[in-house]
Amino acid sequence: MANNVRPADMERITTPALAEAFIEEQVKEVRAQVGDKKVLLALSGGVDSSVVAALLIRAIGKQLTCVHVNHGLMRKGESEQVIEVFRNQLDANLIYVDATDRFLDLLAGVDEPERKRKIIGGEFIKVFEEEARKLEGIDFLAQGTIYPDILESDGVKAHHNVGGLPDDLQFELVEPVRLLFKDEVRMVGKALGLPESMVERQPFPGPGLGVRCLGAITRDRLAALREADAILREEIDKAGLTREIWQFFTVVPDMRATGVREGKRAYDWPVIIRCVNTVDAMTATVPQLPWPLLEKITSRILSEVPTVCRVLYDLTPKPVGTIEWE
Ligand code: XMP
Repeated sequence: MANNVRPADMERITTPALAEAFIEEQVKEVRAQVGDKKVLLALSGGVDSSVVAALLIRAIGKQLTCVHVNHGLMRKGESEQVIEVFRNQLDANLIYVDATDRFLDLLAGVDEPERKRKIIGGEFIKVFEEEARKLEGIDFLAQGTIYPDILESDGVKAHHNVGGLPDDLQFELVEPVRLLFKDEVRMVGKALGLPESMVERQPFPGPGLGVRCLGAITRDRLAALREADAILREEIDKAGLTREIWQFFTVVPDMRATGVREGKRAYDWPVIIRCVNTVDAMTATVPQLPWPLLEKITSRILSEVPTVCRVLYDLTPKPVGTIEWE
C-alpha cells in the first residue's frame, strides 16, 4: 500500500535543484515498483497527468503507454500540443483517440448541466476502457493524483476519474506526484523540460468547453466558443497579462442576439468573457482589464468569428456568481 501521508519533514520543492533530486528519487522508486512491466496512463494534457507522463517516460520509457482521449471539448490546439510534446518531442508511446463524434452525438439535445457532466465523465471512462482492453500485458495504471486530491477526497480524481474502471480492469496504481502540492508539480514539470504553456496551465474543467457552451451543445456554437477563447488567450498573452490573471475564458450562451452585419440583420450568438482572480477558487474577484484590450478582443472576435454578433464582459464576483457558468 502506497504511503499517502506527506511526512512532516518533507522539504518543499522550491528550486530546480530540489526538483531534480525529487525526479531522481522517483525514477528509482518507479523502476523498483514497476520492474519490466507495463504502465497505462490517461493523459489529458493537464498539468498533473502531463508531469506524471514526462516523469514516467524518464523512468521507464516505452514501458509506458499514454492514452489521450480528445472528447471534442478541448481548447484550440490542446490535443495537438499533447501529440507534439509527447509523441514528437519525448518519443512516448501515445495512443490518440479522437472521440469527438461519439461525445457530441451523445450530448446532442442534452441541456441539463449535471447530465452533461455525467455523460462526458461516463463516456470518457468507456473510451479509456476500450483502449485499455485492446492493450495486452498492462499491470499498472499511472495517475496524476496530487496531495490536495488526497486531502480533499479519497484520492480519486473526480475530473479524470479513471478510478471508475470495471473490476476486471483494476491495476496497481503508480502515483509519483501524490505527495506534492500544485506549485511543486509545476516545478517538477519544468525540470523535466515540459513547455511553460503546459506546466503553467490554468485550471480547466474535465468536461472542458462542454461547461462553457451553455445548454445543449451544438457544433456551431462550440466552434465559435473555441475560436473566441483562442482570441482571448492570444490577446491577453500579447498584453503580458497571462500570469496576472488566475483564470480567463469565454462562454457562449444558448440564446441569440440581434445585430447588423454588412448592412444585413444578423441573429447570432453572444460571447461572454470571464476573467477572475482568486486564491482558492472559493471566492473570486473580477480584474479591471484595460479598456483598449477589451476593445481589441471584442473587435477581433466580431470580425474573426462570423457566427458571433455581440461580446460581453462578466463583472460578477464569486459569490454570487460561480467562476464557471454551468
Ligand atoms: P466554480 O464554477 O465552482 O469553479 O466557481 C471553481 C473552479 O473549479 C473549476 N471547475 C472544475 N474543475 N472539473 C474540474 O477539474 C470540473 O468539473 C470543474 N468545474 C469547475 C473552475 O474552472 C474553477 O477554476
